[in-house]
Amino acid sequence: MSSDTTAAQDLNKFFAGKDIAKNYESAERATGPPAEAMIRQAGILSGLDNEDAELEVLDNACGTGVVVVALHKALAGKDGRLKLVCGDFSPQMVESVKERIAQMEGIDAEARVLDGQAMDMIAADHFDYVFTNFGFQSFPEPLKGLRECVRVAKPGGTIGMTNWVKAGWLPAFRVAISRIPGAPTSLPDPLPFMTRTGRLFEASWTRQQLQEIPDVDAATIQIEEHSFTMELKDREEIRAFMQPLEGLFDVFTWQWSEDERKACGEGRLVEAVVQALIEEPTLVWESLITTFRKTTS
Ligand SMILES: C[S@@+](CC[C@H](N)C(=O)[O-])C[C@H]1O[C@@H](n2cnc3c(N)ncnc32)[C@H](O)[C@@H]1O
Repeated sequence: MSSDTTAAQDLNKFFAGKDIAKNYESAERATGPPAEAMIRQAGILSGLDNEDAELEVLDNACGTGVVVVALHKALAGKDGRLKLVCGDFSPQMVESVKERIAQMEGIDAEARVLDGQAMDMIAADHFDYVFTNFGFQSFPEPLKGLRECVRVAKPGGTIGMTNWVKAGWLPAFRVAISRIPGAPTSLPDPLPFMTRTGRLFEASWTRQQLQEIPDVDAATIQIEEHSFTMELKDREEIRAFMQPLEGLFDVFTWQWSEDERKACGEGRLVEAVVQALIEEPTLVWESLITTFRKTTS
């Protein structure tokens, strides 16, 4: 079994965990700003210029619903004209997004368990907009997921996705490793969880893959670098923010030896990352925001 496949399976386990939705909430501080930028770049506001327009929208790999929140904010007052489907592989995520949308006024949304690599229950040519915010890097086969998004988009519909280039905590992670006796002395760059199968963290690779998908209108492909800075203020905030990292440990360390994993186990790795962040609490997050349209014929 390849390391990509194993890492993806570990990620699936992580996202299906009992407390995942609660633990994941803090991650939205990182996934929110790129989600807002993706929505702007996709031009959904101009899609509503026509007074009668009603748009069908899919939030694929929705997690706890950060895209729904960003749409609600961007469309202030017009989101009643969206028919929104939130889909995620993890039933825990779906339950949490259901609770969230139930509390949002004026939004027509439903949430359901959906495998983004095989959306069999969704007919082709259905959605005006299909968004995937940091979903594909968790998929075992991200290109399969990308093709599914193109299939379920209407002709002329817009597909948007974000993918990490660099997680904000990565420098602290490297510092932490260098301080733990018995930890690996070097780490692959990028870390396995950023790669899955493929190189969605690279604009040129992403463009080339898109150009090979039939029905992608190559002239409309737009890939923009996005970065933003986050300040974490004290140990308590840093600890809360890094809490989910503990659960991701298996994904990052899959290729390490038993001894190396042991050296970083029992919370030592997370604690060392927290310490490095106390010393340098400014996190810079970098991602690629990609939008394109499906051909009209
Ligand atoms: C990094 S989270 C992103 C969540 C959310 N879109 C956000 O930006 O905060 C990745 C999400 O992908 C979901 N996921 C993983 N594999 C999936 C698949 N095959 N189909 C649908 N969702 C999947 C996970 O359950 C998780 O909620």
